[in-house]
Amino acid sequence: MADKAKINIGANEYEVPIVTGTENEQGLDISKLRAQSGLITLDVGFKNTGSTTSAITFLNGEEGILRYRGYPIEQLAGQSSFVEVSYLLIFGELPTQKQLDQFSHDLRVHTLVHEDMKKFFDGYPSVAHPMGQLASMVCSLSAYYPKSLNPDPTPEDRYMTIIRLLAKMPTLISWIYKKSIGHPIMYPNNNLDYVSNFLRMTFGNPAEEFAASPIVVDAMNKLLILHADHEQNCSTSTVRVVGSSHANLYASITAGITALWGPLHGGANQAVIEMLEAIKADGGNIDKWIARAKDKNDPFRLMGFGHRVYKNFDPRARIIKKAADDVLESLGLEDEILDIAKQIEEVALRDEYFVERKLYPNVDFYSGIIYRALGFPTEMFTVLFALGRLPGWIAQWKEMREQKQPISRPRQIYTGPNERPYVPIDKRG
Ligand code: CMC
Repeated sequence: MADKAKINIGANEYEVPIVTGTENEQGLDISKLRAQSGLITLDVGFKNTGSTTSAITFLNGEEGILRYRGYPIEQLAGQSSFVEVSYLLIFGELPTQKQLDQFSHDLRVHTLVHEDMKKFFDGYPSVAHPMGQLASMVCSLSAYYPKSLNPDPTPEDRYMTIIRLLAKMPTLISWIYKKSIGHPIMYPNNNLDYVSNFLRMTFGNPAEEFAASPIVVDAMNKLLILHADHEQNCSTSTVRVVGSSHANLYASITAGITALWGPLHGGANQAVIEMLEAIKADGGNIDKWIARAKDKNDPFRLMGFGHRVYKNFDPRARIIKKAADDVLESLGLEDEILDIAKQIEEVALRDEYFVERKLYPNVDFYSGIIYRALGFPTEMFTVLFALGRLPGWIAQWKEMREQKQPISRPRQIYTGPNERPYVPIDKRG
């Protein structure tokens, strides 16, 4: 394959290198183009711009392929655990038994959150959105671990910052939930594995024994694995951009959490359930809502449909759709909105509008139905996405620092007024 491309601008010709990845994806390296020609490239929303090389996640949107460090998502979701996948993403290889034991042990012994942080929750109204609270809490961790502020920590200190964040996130999320319903918080039980501990802190109460059902633990592991990384999406790019200024890990992840919050990104899982509820309350008239999604004068979009990179199917959605059926059946539950969701998918996949634009259900379309079956309220869905995405964000942040990437600083094409003199206020029309 060619390793250079030629760009002709007027009478001039410039050579730009072609970068080829291990899956033969190719990109033009235009980093020197401005110095050579005076021109930048313009790509609003980064629709066709690679911001980095990365060895973490491979995604082929045309063929519906997703792999973490080379391992197919279907195999990881079916056979691995969230803790093992976290290790894989962050350190690059599946752990040996000894490595996994050490990693799990380190995660177990750092689950406690500083007692003073409990007071922060007292300041929030009970209706405060969990994502806002989570972002504040994660950023606040930096206050308790000053070594994390060092932009060039020792490998041991960096490891501890990563462990603390992974270990404390379930505790923080469970406390956010407990505060929202006015129940006493639960402290971690470090005899339990990561997911079981999280479920106990969320759904248990201090006066009673609690053991999460294996069906629920399994479903939760699967959901977290499916969300664990997704290459350079909006929140991950945000983490890398913020981290490129050498901001600490807690601050960088906080930025990722806030980026995830929006309904076009992680917030879609909450928006999907609200949409399905609205359709149900409206009498379940699917055609009417599909027509609204197609109407350019109506801001309504079919939430949980469409993806920037998947143009065939989202492999995560396939796994989650099946898991939704399995979980509901295993728990002996029925949910009318699962039927509505399936009907919408069926109608949309036959509709020219969605076919032409290659709009398919994405990861968020069915995930909320499982979260609901597991007992989580709708407002918690996006924090669960954040819990799943955490190891991916950490892996990408770590890779970015190890690659010694320069500070992220895009350019722009200015379209405002040309130079003009200041007009004193009494002379303005
Ligand atoms: N409902 C109706 N029309 C849609 C939808 C939708 N959900 N998604 C895209 N379109 C149309 C859009 O109006 C446009 O039509 P036209 O070409 O006629 O103007 C065309 O499809 C292309 O859409 P786009 O907005 O240019 O595509 P994008 O790559 O910028 O946006 C997206 C991707 C995911 C933001 C968008 O599909 C969307 O808003 N989906 C709903 C929100 C959602 O489910 N988000 C979760 C994404 S997956 C989880 C994650 O990783 O964040």
